[in-house]
Amino acid sequence: MPKLKIVGGRRLSGEIVVDGAKNSAVALIPASILCDEIVEINNVPDISDIDALEEILDYLGVKVERGKHSIVFNDTKIDNKFIPCSMSGKLRASYYFMGAILGKYKHVDMCFPGGCSIGERPINLHLKGFEKLGAVVREDDGRVIIDADELVGAEIFLDFPSVGATINIILAAVKARGKTVIDNAAKEPHVIDVCNFLNSMGACISGIGTGRIEIIGVDHLHSTKHNVVPDMIEAGTYVIIASLLGKNLKVSNLEPLHIESLTSKLEEAGVNLEIGDDYIFVADVSEYKGIDIKTMVYPGFPTDLQQPMTPFLVSCEGISHIEETIWENRFQNIADTIKMGASIEVSSDNKVATIYGSSKLVGKEVSATDLRGGASMVICGLIADGETIIDNISYILRGYDDIVGKLNRVGADIKIVD
Ligand code: EPZ
Repeated sequence: MPKLKIVGGRRLSGEIVVDGAKNSAVALIPASILCDEIVEINNVPDISDIDALEEILDYLGVKVERGKHSIVFNDTKIDNKFIPCSMSGKLRASYYFMGAILGKYKHVDMCFPGGCSIGERPINLHLKGFEKLGAVVREDDGRVIIDADELVGAEIFLDFPSVGATINIILAAVKARGKTVIDNAAKEPHVIDVCNFLNSMGACISGIGTGRIEIIGVDHLHSTKHNVVPDMIEAGTYVIIASLLGKNLKVSNLEPLHIESLTSKLEEAGVNLEIGDDYIFVADVSEYKGIDIKTMVYPGFPTDLQQPMTPFLVSCEGISHIEETIWENRFQNIADTIKMGASIEVSSDNKVATIYGSSKLVGKEVSATDLRGGASMVICGLIADGETIIDNISYILRGYDDIVGKLNRVGADIKIVD
């Protein structure tokens, strides 16, 4: 199995260009099935999650042309058959095929989605939303079958502002009869991007980016071309790296507003960030003081950045805390971070990590436990003394387009080895 080999301690200079958002692209691609004409999506990240979605499209007989950072749907008709676990289990976002196929064909038959082991990852809110629109949902041993004679707009309140449930219900509602209202909806930039994508093909969605989204059903969705919004989590990951090792390092093609919760925390720790219209620049690094982080839904501190933030807090002076409020099992990266020399305690309820700073990490053989935990280990390797070998790197390659090339080009000593 390939591994990452990193020799740490190198200062990083130059420019890292952020790609399109994984958590938008993985929704836009299934959503394209809803369109009745040609769809072209650009700025698509070249990552294995997109490969997994393309495999499902191919299985369903959808004709697509895949470029390195683009995908064109020449015909969005599908052969609506059972999607097996071998395909849907490869990623969490396969569940968007439920909303899209239900919204267009009123019948879905597929296995439950997969995804990183950061929590139980239920989809009850998605299925409740489909039922509110008039669908009948049957679950049978990991398989879900959804049928609707007709989808009729409804008032839906989400118990939690779930990103996936918000997007999936929108996909099922864009062609439903009448008006659907989603209350307590998610406001993440990738949710906004999907709504803008659907509106660009003639959907009628309002309240975009607010907690109350209204969808008026339409009959036809016409051709569109769409650029995926920049990946706020990829951007944040590289801004953290720049804060630790940057020497005139620029992270560009980002929307600063999307990661304001991160940059405000980095500045609170003492990082000197130059924040431009679409970039963030770090001229040099210095000593930082420990801070406390609590993960929240957008615009709060994103759960997807708490693991990449851990090595930063390990480097800060003093004591820091991370409180993870979204996922019940998102500290799996901490064991190997301690193995590299960090001093961290996790509460018995697995919700709070206390980080005793000023630790100097030493390169070790470690493993990626999940996507963002893997990114966290890369950062540990970049700042550690000596050589770090990271196993299970398929997790990392699921969500970070060309992470090795991007880091190499700014001076990191990182390579994929067998
Ligand atoms: C999306 O997951 C992202 N994945 C996750 O990013 C991200 O951590 C998460 O949103 C929160 O921002 C994709 O977009 C593919 P949720 P999703 O539904 O949609 C509970 C990454 O690293 N919940 O907002 O699955 C759930 O248990 C990945 O890129 C229900 O209870 O997240 C969790 O506690 C990891 N029932 C909370 O809501 C449901 O039906 C947040 O889940 C759905 C969710």
